[in-house]
Amino acid sequence: MSDAHWTEVDQFIEAKLLGSDAVLMAALENNAANNLPPIDVSPALGKMLMLLAQMAGARHILEIGTLGGYSTIWLARALPPDGRLLTLEVDRKHARVATENLARAGLSDKVEIKVGPAKDSLAAIQPADPFDFVFIDADKQGSVDYVDEAIRLGRAGTTIIVDNVVRCGAIVDDANNDPRVAGTRRLYEHVARHPRLNATAMQMVGSKGWDGFLLAQVC
Ligand code: SAH
Ligand code: DHB
Ligand code: MG
Repeated sequence: MSDAHWTEVDQFIEAKLLGSDAVLMAALENNAANNLPPIDVSPALGKMLMLLAQMAGARHILEIGTLGGYSTIWLARALPPDGRLLTLEVDRKHARVATENLARAGLSDKVEIKVGPAKDSLAAIQPADPFDFVFIDADKQGSVDYVDEAIRLGRAGTTIIVDNVVRCGAIVDDANNDPRVAGTRRLYEHVARHPRLNATAMQMVGSKGWDGFLLAQVC
């Protein structure tokens, strides 16, 4: 059992169930050409996000942490013709690359990228229409606040997914002083006692190493 074997299995899953996708491949190539960090969701997780958003019947999706828009493309593909996605990104260059990738994907008119610290962007949102599905994948120190905003901007039934909640198992080490790990440990505490959330988390291995996601539903 090794990282190489995990990657080989991810490649098998991609070949069998995902196929090759020129738009998504071009997005990853454009990210690399612009020196973006390769921390997009894996293809298999991207497709799972799309399927979950479809299963939820999501018409209004919020993403926190755009990077080059790889996960954004997967999520926006779940939307019906009148659906909309808002994605929040602090880094101007990331947002510029994502804008290019989303244009190539033909998704520019469904997706809005808001540049700035997510906390500020979220505070300014007063949606007429609640978000049905929220994907949180930005700075891990902010995850507790992002979940609270997702609840405020959602409705009973809204799906919330938070990425990177396992971090090679670091989250069980209470002596770990990485602020991202501390932020994720606070997230578990907060979600666990929140009266309006019903949640689980799944750890996974694959081409991105050992990590996982938290899945919650607002009640
Ligand atoms: N969801 C993307 C990956 C996101 S990586 C995908 O799977 O394709 C995390 C992103 O969050 C980075 O682009 C980083 O710049 C952004 N980010 C970090 N802190 C942020 C903040 N405070 N507000 C908004 N975005 C932030
Ligand atoms: C990091 C962030 C991510 O969203 C991810 O999927 C992997 C790593 C990071 O900040 O290190
Ligand atoms: Mg992530």
